[in-house]
Amino acid sequence: MTVTITREGTIAVVTVDNPPVNALSQALRQALVEAAAALDADVSVKAVVLLCAGRTFIAGADVNEFDKPPLPPHLPDVVTYIEAAKKPWIAAIHGSALGGGLEVALGCAYRVAVPSASLGLPEVKLGIIPGAGGTVRLPRLIGPAAAVDLVTSGSPVGAKKAEALGLVDTLIDSDLRIGAIAFANSVADKPLPQPISSRTVPAVDAGFWESAQMAVSAKAKREVAPLRALASIRNACEADFASAMAFERETFLSLRGSPQAAALRHVFFAERAAPRPPELAGVKPRDIRSAAVVGGGTMGAGIAAALRDAGLPIILVERDGVAVERGLANIRAIYEGSVKRGRISEEIAVDRMAGVTGSDDYGLLANIDLVIEAVFEDITVKHAVFAKLSDVCRPDAVLATNTSYLDPSQISEGIAQPERFLGLHFFSPAHIMKLLEIVPTETTAPDVLATGFALARLLGKIPVRAGICDGFIGNRILKVTRAQAERLLLSGATPSAIDAAMRSFGLPMGPFEAQDLGGLNIAAFQRKAARVRGEMPFAPIADRLCAIERFGQKSGGGWYDYQPGERAPLPSAIVAGIIAREAGGWPQRPWDEASIVDAIVLPMVNEAARILEERVALRAADIDLVKIHGYGFPHWRGGPMHYAEARGLIEVLSAIDELSAEGLADQPSEGLRSAAQAGGFSGLAG
Ligand code: 3HC
Ligand code: NAI
Repeated sequence: MTVTITREGTIAVVTVDNPPVNALSQALRQALVEAAAALDADVSVKAVVLLCAGRTFIAGADVNEFDKPPLPPHLPDVVTYIEAAKKPWIAAIHGSALGGGLEVALGCAYRVAVPSASLGLPEVKLGIIPGAGGTVRLPRLIGPAAAVDLVTSGSPVGAKKAEALGLVDTLIDSDLRIGAIAFANSVADKPLPQPISSRTVPAVDAGFWESAQMAVSAKAKREVAPLRALASIRNACEADFASAMAFERETFLSLRGSPQAAALRHVFFAERAAPRPPELAGVKPRDIRSAAVVGGGTMGAGIAAALRDAGLPIILVERDGVAVERGLANIRAIYEGSVKRGRISEEIAVDRMAGVTGSDDYGLLANIDLVIEAVFEDITVKHAVFAKLSDVCRPDAVLATNTSYLDPSQISEGIAQPERFLGLHFFSPAHIMKLLEIVPTETTAPDVLATGFALARLLGKIPVRAGICDGFIGNRILKVTRAQAERLLLSGATPSAIDAAMRSFGLPMGPFEAQDLGGLNIAAFQRKAARVRGEMPFAPIADRLCAIERFGQKSGGGWYDYQPGERAPLPSAIVAGIIAREAGGWPQRPWDEASIVDAIVLPMVNEAARILEERVALRAADIDLVKIHGYGFPHWRGGPMHYAEARGLIEVLSAIDELSAEGLADQPSEGLRSAAQAGGFSGLAG
């Protein structure tokens, strides 16, 4: 049953129960309309409390229905029906009132909420705008400026802020049902408040819309929905209610079928599926109540901060007293940065640091549940660390390595109880970046693997299982990105043209700017190791730059020149000269933005298909999450695999065929060929 009606004297309580998040499916919309009709007709009812069972108030429209034609009753009509009720409806909010859920609440005469509730219109995050009066009623209730903030950011606000904005009438500290019924009794005999739809919108200052347009546009970059949402709010402030509703609905329906909305929906479901891989269903993770990090450098400090932010007490182990102090200072610097940016208060920072114990004594790890190693990328150093951990840790403690490129199986050799070992590959800065690649070895026990996923949930990260290969999923594809970028240089493109094209595709930075920022030496080190293994990594120009110590911004120049103290990249005559010398024998051709993007992104997809075929990744959507959350691939393009499928895999295949015929890319992988034949990557996934 999605909706039940019970009575408390003259108050009717309408309880929505549509797990998991009370989304507004067609059945629920129908049931709400029927409840509204029945209660309007019932003279014994003076007021109605709308309450939800389970973990949340109505969390929005049912996103699963967005790929299908809309079925009546449509949500705007449901909201109108509730707003037109002869007696007051009181939305009693716990959990999240989001999207259509908040729109239903805006149809109610009053809104009450528990202090922990949050309210928002996150539609722009799904590439759409509110479609049931959100952009029209909200400015009438809380004014245009607050409505613009809420709708164009898509970010929810807490109940206390919502109360301050006038979005919530009263906070209920005690039991929500009892409090909401008491509130209903207090308003039952009062005249109904003016419906929001018939209220006027407060005037805005001159120039308000123009500056809002500039601010939203700067933030949205190439995302379409935020500006369309702004246009709908502006229209709602300037037009009458009915035509504003029509304008909003038309925009909502047109965006619902747009490529960006499809991509963002794909990411929405991929992110929600990621923490619960079906292959681990029913496997109970080990308890993690305490954690330690070995190595307090860039990664170790970030990982320690991430663990600490999740509430775990942390031990940081370093080589000696001086290194311990440096490691603790690295963590402190992270918290100081967070305080400066206003993310946390000074008190919280102090509290977080108080939960970190620094030491060079491995003995402190005797009773720790999880230890993550983040020492130098050197197999001998890592072996020595895990030998000590094997000696001191409890046999059931989970031991993890944060290695980027070493083989975790090799690292685990010699560990006591190797079934408790796995790779946990964080991304820099580890307390911020959402991605966590989880890398089991052949001996990793299922409950240890499940612990990796549970840890990701605890840290608020997006976990993706990766198989063992050079660079796992993300860095393996990154190598292709970089190799392609160099191929383009050798065949006539410039670093700045390539960077500009990739930025205009939606990446925050082009491949050369990114290398100059991070430093070219790390990749050079990995190429050296690969050559020792007999591989032949392709980076002729990067190799030449490293040979003359052009490592990037920190050495004063890399792919670009930099003025002392400046970060603006300047084209480099030295680099141009190196490219010209290396390019002998390469076919030269003109490159426009679209062909640059194709020559970089499509070979990434080709490699990703190979990764799927080898089962280094289990699902195409996992690869999308890796590239979006680890490497800045535009989320509104849905990740490389979704992008390729939306383009059409046959077209992608033939573009790669052409590039490889010109010597500008590897040949199509078997994985890509078979996915193209099957019409999608799902056949390759397991
Ligand atoms: N439609 C369909 N399914 C949804 C959903 C929705 N709006 N929101 C969540 N779900 C599903 C998830 O896919 C997941 O399914 P699964 O268990 O099968 O994987 C399940 O609900 C639980 O979701 P979470 O793991 O995200 O649960 P949490 O407890 O962590 O978070 C939440 C709860 C805060 C409500 C979060 O789910 C959320 O933010 N949901 C999205 C809300 C949203 O975007 N609403 C707007 C929709 S668009 C709209 O309303 C248009 C309107 O204007 C017409
Ligand atoms: P780093 O050089 O900044 O830090 C390494 C730290 O380990 C140093 O503080 C050092 O004193 C400490 N250390 C060395 N030997 C030790 C020992 N025996 N016991 C205790 N501490 C010891 O290196 P970084 O960048 O933090 O990398 C650490 C690991 O994380 C490497 O395996 C690296 O490949 C991996 N990684 C790095 C990423 C990055 O962007 N820097 C991203 C993801 C993984």
